Amino acid sequence: MMVTNYILAFIYFAVAVTVLLTVLLYVFQCDLLYAAGFPAGSRSTVARPSQYDLPDKEVILMTSDGVKIRSYVMIQRDQNGEDLAIQSPTILWFHSHTGNMGHRLPVAKVFYEKLGYNVVMLSYRGYGLSEGKPNEKGLNVDAQTALDYILHHPILRHTRLICMGQSLGGALALNLVSKNEDKFAALIIENTFLSMTLLIPHALPALRHLVYLCNQTWRAYRAIQHIHHIPILLLSSLKDELVPPAHMKKLYEISHTTGGKVWKEFENGTHNDTCMQEGYFKAIADFGLKYVWDLSDQE
Ligand SMILES: *[C@@H]1O[C@H](CO)[C@@H](O)[C@H](O)[C@H]1NC(C)=O
Ligand SMILES: *[C@@H]1O[C@H](CO)[C@@H](O)[C@H](O)[C@H]1NC(C)=O
Ligand SMILES: *[C@@H]1O[C@H](CO)[C@@H](O)[C@H](O)[C@H]1NC(C)=O
Repeated sequence: MMVTNYILAFIYFAVAVTVLLTVLLYVFQCDLLYAAGFPAGSRSTVARPSQYDLPDKEVILMTSDGVKIRSYVMIQRDQNGEDLAIQSPTILWFHSHTGNMGHRLPVAKVFYEKLGYNVVMLSYRGYGLSEGKPNEKGLNVDAQTALDYILHHPILRHTRLICMGQSLGGALALNLVSKNEDKFAALIIENTFLSMTLLIPHALPALRHLVYLCNQTWRAYRAIQHIHHIPILLLSSLKDELVPPAHMKKLYEISHTTGGKVWKEFENGTHNDTCMQEGYFKAIADFGLKYVWDLSDQE
């Protein structure tokens, strides 16, 4: 009799704990997925472009749902006016699920100085010094806000536009381009996943049975199939420890864009060090020269 009571009590306890953990997981899923506080200090300190000798222009954008987000806008400079900026492509660059735009300034510096692009980057809502809390719907609004800013900018609206995203930023780029394809000349994604639901069993194995709780779906595999005409460059680190490289391969396979698909893999690259691999910027530069720059009016 005693023993059955103990067993019953244990079962009640286990059920209560499971329910509690499940509820907590549901409520805090966004904090888990959007690691805006990592690395430490990411929510209070954001590096400035001037620290990298880049044009130091921060623009505060107001989203359609009333959130103030921060962006850096770096426009090519020419003593003789705006010609250089207008001839240069503009890259709209989306970061991953950690950190803020300041961490990516070394990459922006190469885009700006070596590749000659105008650069627009942002810290999504709830990242860096941007207001709000991150979630899928909100990040999509942020991306659209940045695009609308470019489309209304006196110089940038005349430029050819490249959308680029790393990891989660790639899923965001795919979403944005799939809804605004006629505004873009090209798309670049790096170490992106097929969807959050397909990624979780690999990235957070302990939660694989709770995937159904996750309402942040990020269906990149669907978005890429809605991109029909523009060229896509896919950058894949084969030693990616977070997103299995098979996800990128599959995105490549299911894309049916008529503009051209370019695959570039890095045998020693991991999830967030692809930009340090040999050939990374060359792949982006070559892709830009082939598909984006219009040099026909130059002598
Ligand atoms: C997703 O779940 C969170 C709870 O963590 C909730 O706040 C949010 O509104 C949900 N989003 C959608 C789109 O259902
Ligand atoms: C990858 O690493 C191996 C072992 O260190 C090295 O031999 C190889 O050259 C590297 N490959 C590239 C493309 O850097
Ligand atoms: C990149 O990934 C490595 C290993 O996964 C980690 O130690 C490092 O802190 C990460 N950096 C950023 C900025 O996320």
